[in-house]
Amino acid sequence: MIIGIPKEIMHEEKRVAATPSDVKKYVADGHKVLVEMGAGVGALHADADYAAAGAEMVASAQDLYKRAELILKVKEPQFNETFGKHEVDMMHKGQYLITFIHPAAPVNHEMVKNMAAAGVISLTMDCVPRISRAQSMDALTSMSTCAGYKGMLMAASDLECFVPMMPTAAGMIKPVNAMVIGVGVAGLQALATAKRLGAKTYAMDIRPAAAEQATSLGAKVIDSGVAPELAMGQGGYALALPEDVLAAERELLAKELPNMDIVFLSALVPGRLAPILITEEMVKSMKPGSVIVDIAIDQGGNCAITPAGKRETKHGVIIEGIKNIPGMLAVSSTFMYSANMYNLVKFLTKGGKMNLDMNDEIVKGMMTTKDGKIVHEGARAAMGI
Ligand code: NAI
Repeated sequence: MIIGIPKEIMHEEKRVAATPSDVKKYVADGHKVLVEMGAGVGALHADADYAAAGAEMVASAQDLYKRAELILKVKEPQFNETFGKHEVDMMHKGQYLITFIHPAAPVNHEMVKNMAAAGVISLTMDCVPRISRAQSMDALTSMSTCAGYKGMLMAASDLECFVPMMPTAAGMIKPVNAMVIGVGVAGLQALATAKRLGAKTYAMDIRPAAAEQATSLGAKVIDSGVAPELAMGQGGYALALPEDVLAAERELLAKELPNMDIVFLSALVPGRLAPILITEEMVKSMKPGSVIVDIAIDQGGNCAITPAGKRETKHGVIIEGIKNIPGMLAVSSTFMYSANMYNLVKFLTKGGKMNLDMNDEIVKGMMTTKDGKIVHEGARAAMGI
């Protein structure tokens, strides 16, 4: 099979879908791999390393899209300014695409419809099911790990003070207080990172299992006051809470915020906008120079005044609304994403060709467009199909 790895074209995207060492594995599996020149530069992989791994380096994205049977990417197809052409318009009928598509997000509806119309068979990386046999393919978990780590480092770097306790000749320096709200994969990694940096850590989540995991990382858990039967739905994921329950949770949080130096926000409800847990009034109660990192911003944010895609100081508090934090850790995020992708491609192929079992939970979950139709349930519901 001919596999194409184009250069990502989203502004400042540094990740790439395959590292040279994974390209070597695809080649050993009998595939031909085309890599667009410069595709790995952002993740510090030189063209020469891809060529040495057995890839054919291709100068033009258009050429790569034309020849590949399977395209592996990181971000959803977008408009390519260099060619004045959308990436979907470079694709052809029967071509496979695996990437993050986020097909239910309204901003992607037109692109997904165009992919279906073009006859592209697309699978989205954001819908690899959270089951044990798919763990090695779970790019969402990999990217959450990166966001939790790097997001906490950003918070530490924004502070004008040391994070750990330090006995110095000038006097004792107290450790900072770091609170993580929403302790899923990213939140746990943020807590672990804050702990390694020497902060006093606090955590809040509505799932009892998350509270247990936070405790095992040495954090003090603040009770959210939410009953487990209201908090958890299918598969152990969080549910959207009724407004009065959320209001009560905000009241509990409001008591804690004035003592915090770092507030890391990663509370999400699958398929929904992120719950608002911090209001503008609550930001006003925080210490001057304290930091909020709101990694829930792609889903609207957990803080009502997080600036989308930016870092701003509001009411004396630094608020990070930077998107694509995993892209700021391009080497590690590419390493993890590429490995997840390789495991997935291995699973989806048989005898060197794509072999999709539509009854398989992994294939069913990820499949986005096929046979000219949009088949992704979440996208169909969001589009009212
Ligand atoms: P997520 O990113 O969907 O949510 C992050 C966290 O926000 C969750 O812990 C959730 O309980 C919390 N949250 C939601 N509403 C909240 C509120 N109002 N207040 C406070 N916290 C709130 O979650 P993620 O990181 O995708 O993982 C969720 C679960 O999935 C975890 O139990 C994790 O262990 C499990 N998981 C399982 C995997 C597997 O079996 N392969 C892989 C990855 C995750």
